[in-house]
Amino acid sequence: MNLFFWVILPYITVTILVLGLLVRYNFDQLGWSARSTEIFEKRQLKWGSLLFHWGILAAFVGHVVGILIPIAVYHGLGISNEMYHRGAILLGGMAGLAALIGLVILTVRRLTHPRLRRHTSFADWLTTVVLLVVIGLGDWITLGHNLYATPFEYRTTVGPWFRGLFVFSPHAYLMTGIPLVFKIHIVASYVFWMIFPFTRLVHIISVPFAYLRRAPILYRSRLRYRPQS
Ligand code: HEM
Repeated sequence: MNLFFWVILPYITVTILVLGLLVRYNFDQLGWSARSTEIFEKRQLKWGSLLFHWGILAAFVGHVVGILIPIAVYHGLGISNEMYHRGAILLGGMAGLAALIGLVILTVRRLTHPRLRRHTSFADWLTTVVLLVVIGLGDWITLGHNLYATPFEYRTTVGPWFRGLFVFSPHAYLMTGIPLVFKIHIVASYVFWMIFPFTRLVHIISVPFAYLRRAPILYRSRLRYRPQS
């Protein structure tokens, strides 16, 4: 089981992610978009989207800091374990809460506007549910588990296991003793990456640089615009 979850499944996930993106790019370039729904409702979108995007961006930075940077670097810099975890709970907690509150606003918005609901595909609902689970569990780790028990030292377990995946040498035994909520958070994140290529999430990897250079598109209302004959 350990081998499956911590060695085989991560590589299956990456394979589905990469092949899925290649297939989508080849066959559905016109559908490669965030598919904005601003036209249906603006106010809730503004707050939900701002909170969600800034929160998730900060949580992403938090994952780099906590998982990709080895604990020895912190010790070398004189940052004690206690200092690190206090910072992680405070900053990670704020980031995680912002992302969750934003996502809840966006979900309620989708559920309560009939036109928007009609415009929501199965992939959109699946994305929402998976994100709610992954972010909800992440927040539970940071603000629940860490606060009511002693913070679990994922920098000597999850961190080295995850970095091992990049050099094709992941050690499954590092993951055996970690709390269940961490395990479910990570496995749920595999589901997120597996569905990623088939959802509107693909917009994350397309930075619209051309948008800054291209000529502005002018929209005219049909009533006012009368072509000269
Ligand atoms: C789609 C992918 C993922 C999302 C959206 C996500 C989201 C989150 C969020 C919102 C938090 C709480 C806020 C924070 O501490 O930053 C969190 C915490 C955490 N996540 Fe993830 N996560 C993802 C993948 C992963 C993966 C792959 C790992 C392990 C390799 C991981 C390990 C952790 C750990 C250890 C914490 C606790 C951090 C702390 O308390 O200091 N996450 N995650």
